[in-house]
Amino acid sequence: MEPFNYRDNQLCAEELQIAAIAQRFGTPCYIYSRAALEARFKEYQDALSGAEHLICYAVKANSNLAVLDILARLGAGFDIVSGGEMERVITAGGDPAKIVFSGVGKTPAEMARALDLDIACFNLESAPELELLARVAAEKNMVARVSVRVNPDVDAQTHPYISTGLRENKFGVTVEEAMAVYRRAAELPSIEVVGIDCHIGSQLTQISPFIDALKRLLALVDELASEGITLHHLDLGGGLGVCYKDEQPPSVAEYIAAVRAELGDRPLKLVFEPGRSIAANAGLLVTRVNYLKPTAEHNFALVDAAMNDMIRPALYQAWLDIRQVDLASEGQTATWDVVGPVCETGDFLGKNRELTVAPGDLLALSGAGAYGFTMSSNYNSRPRAAEIMVDGDQAHIVRAREEFEDLIRGEARLPD
Ligand code: LLP
Repeated sequence: MEPFNYRDNQLCAEELQIAAIAQRFGTPCYIYSRAALEARFKEYQDALSGAEHLICYAVKANSNLAVLDILARLGAGFDIVSGGEMERVITAGGDPAKIVFSGVGKTPAEMARALDLDIACFNLESAPELELLARVAAEKNMVARVSVRVNPDVDAQTHPYISTGLRENKFGVTVEEAMAVYRRAAELPSIEVVGIDCHIGSQLTQISPFIDALKRLLALVDELASEGITLHHLDLGGGLGVCYKDEQPPSVAEYIAAVRAELGDRPLKLVFEPGRSIAANAGLLVTRVNYLKPTAEHNFALVDAAMNDMIRPALYQAWLDIRQVDLASEGQTATWDVVGPVCETGDFLGKNRELTVAPGDLLALSGAGAYGFTMSSNYNSRPRAAEIMVDGDQAHIVRAREEFEDLIRGEARLPD
């Protein structure tokens, strides 16, 4: 499902022209497509039909309440990593019984709140975390359901900053340590062992690292069973890649089919935590060209979005497609570096792009629906962009553009 298409040379989001949306709500703005979000989520549901499963959308990819609401209405569960994400899910109408709680640094307060909400599972990342959770649950006279995040030591073959399943990473426990953590968990009265999980990295474009990880997890499941510790679910995390440029990641259907084949007829519920593969290509970042500045070295197109709005190019050298909103622009055709107004040389959205642009033209960054707005900041005291959800021929503002008052909320001058 391609939500952003040209009609009469004008880029559209579902039934609406991007130019009209930008006119109405201003730039920079994030534009999401409800139909695209739903289509991607349904691909997971279809691929998992007939298997006991739970699809826990990774909230960190795009945590806007409208996004969470749309997915919750389809029956999604949620993978969270903080108290803030937990409250977002609840506020958006998500079902706490479908929440899994990941993250290496859960606090006692977050654990207590999650216990009160009776979430599905805590994905434990270390032995000390198990001890702390057991204490917090015991004090409340409650039982915490847990899974142990295993670091299977496989190379996800992705960018080192978003690779998480190698021994050298801070995440999870090694296969060897996992046995000890499970044995300890099994003897704690305030803990109920229910599952096993891993997440080996993000933007994976091959199936084999997932299957390598799955094999290691299944070996552990068997070893635990031989000791009388029976697990009910297996959570393979997120990580399925998307096409930003010319990557050819497996489809959701291919990926899930390979996992189901490897699982065979084991009675394990399958859990996934997809983020990017659901949200990335359901969103654009739309920006206006303010100045053209050709120099001896580079042609700069200065736009009103910057690294504070979309940090992925600066942080990971990520390549995001940049498209003209009006293909019939009568501007200047050249190879442009598309850069923002932030005072950093690293403030670029894309380099060496063939575009025809004039000041006032709109450009759209593709693949911006995941890890776009959620990683944005107020650097250079820039108010964060508006977020718009398109639904057929309707555009809804789902986060208002920030104003100066938002920037200084909670700040104070010293007393006289
Ligand atoms: N589950 C866990 C435990 C995770 O740590 C992550 C992502 C996910 C699920 C979702 O992974 P996905 O399906 O989105 O690949 N900011 C980076 C990506 C960091 C991902 C961190 N963990 C980027 O912009 O590429």
